[in-house]
Amino acid sequence: MEFATVFCLILSLHCLLKFLTSGSRRRLPLPPGSMGWPYIGETFQLYSQNPNEFFASKVRKYGSILKTHILGCPCVMISSPEAVKHVLVTRAHLFKPTYPESKERMLGKQAIFFHQGDYHAKLRRMVLRVFMPESIKNIVSDIESIAVGSLESWEGQQVNTFQETKTYAFNVALLSIWGKDGVLYKEELKSCYYILEKGYNSMPINLPGTLFRKSMKARKELAQILAKILSIRRDMKDNHTDLLGSLMRDKEGLTDEQIVDNVIGVIFAARDTTASVLTWIVKYLAENPNVLQLVTEEQEAIRRGKCGEEKVLTWADTKNMPITSRVIQETLRIASILSFTFREAVEDVEFEGYLIPKGWKVLPLFRNIHHNPDNFPAPEKFDPSRFEVSPKPNTFLPFGNGTHSCPGNELAKLEILVLLHHMTTKYRWVVYGGPTQWNSVWPLCSSPEWFAHQALPQIEDTNPRHRSVCNANCIC
Ligand code: HEM
Repeated sequence: MEFATVFCLILSLHCLLKFLTSGSRRRLPLPPGSMGWPYIGETFQLYSQNPNEFFASKVRKYGSILKTHILGCPCVMISSPEAVKHVLVTRAHLFKPTYPESKERMLGKQAIFFHQGDYHAKLRRMVLRVFMPESIKNIVSDIESIAVGSLESWEGQQVNTFQETKTYAFNVALLSIWGKDGVLYKEELKSCYYILEKGYNSMPINLPGTLFRKSMKARKELAQILAKILSIRRDMKDNHTDLLGSLMRDKEGLTDEQIVDNVIGVIFAARDTTASVLTWIVKYLAENPNVLQLVTEEQEAIRRGKCGEEKVLTWADTKNMPITSRVIQETLRIASILSFTFREAVEDVEFEGYLIPKGWKVLPLFRNIHHNPDNFPAPEKFDPSRFEVSPKPNTFLPFGNGTHSCPGNELAKLEILVLLHHMTTKYRWVVYGGPTQWNSVWPLCSSPEWFAHQALPQIEDTNPRHRSVCNANCIC
């Protein structure tokens, strides 16, 4: 009897508490902002103006947490460093990553981006062990060969910078995924992938002739090529240190489908992002000849310090490029390649005195943080020297933060440094500007789509009889 009374008491207290807390949540206001038109919300405004201006004007009007309705979803946008840290790190379990359905189907539902919990943690371990500095330091010379080949193929021509750097980033991604095994199938893989990526943002209509149908077909073919590479690998029974090797390790137990989805996912994550940064760097260096001069001097000093056989770049060299590294940081800040990312509230969440209802999208606005003068004075000025001092905590987020932050950031920086080394020491270039295009391979990945440059070999460096004087004062 006594037990029943205690049990009833606890149960009633529990129900009362639940009622009170859900009540207080219900009483919490939604963040300020405007939801626009029914269903279309403010999508039209987003796409009809510069997205920078769309976000910035909203933040000016409503503050650092606001509501809106875009792309068919009610959203909360956040732009204070602390709030972004809450969503991506401290309370990350309450906000799951979310992507449009068509992108999930194209990349594959088993890809790392779409998951949380144990499966995500397992994939992340597998990916990180391949892209951490200890691993990528072994492929510096292979990346260098790819960079030299790319630059030679641009020599004397006017090229579309973004398209060409995409090819460079694609080749580096393939190298890190399956070393040299992929060479055999490189062209097939490339043509399938290029068709697939055209469908990333298509309407998911699977009818003959639609972009979606063509892309899904290309995806199937890509999976078949990958299956061939997997079977060759299984016959070889070698212990590969590349991504495929890591994903195939027996004890981790991934299915072929899971491997394929994650290989496609990594190519997707690595390619346009890295190429966008490279393209912006070409533009900013051309517009800032004094910065270009400093980068060139830094790179030439590294080149002069090398003799004969040792002329190849090493990992240590790439860690000795502070000026060029700051140019990369400043470009990542000012161009903010990923303007924002998407999360979704998994339950009603109380956030800074407001309610974020379950199912609402939450958008941490990286670009606004990077362009806030409180975090970066004179934010529109391209000034790499600002990174001589570390930015304030949580204000520099080009690679995100928390459990989904970019595992490929070291590789991206490495391949950019290697290309810039050869570009500045062996070439000068002329740029032909063009309007910035906003594409949405990632949510609003900024890429100067029509930007072109012409690479002109420096006369002294293309002359095979040219000799440089190394630090040891010998003629090499
Ligand atoms: C400069 C180039 C790059 C930029 C700016 C960039 C940026 C980002 C950002 C911001 C995220 C987090 C997205 C989120 O939280 O929703 C991310 C995730 C990711 N990135 Fe990168 N990335 C770059 C290059 C690369 C490269 C080269 C690779 C692979 C080789 C890569 C692989 C990934 C993967 C697999 C994820 C998902 C991680 C997860 O969900 O756990 N990225 N990237």
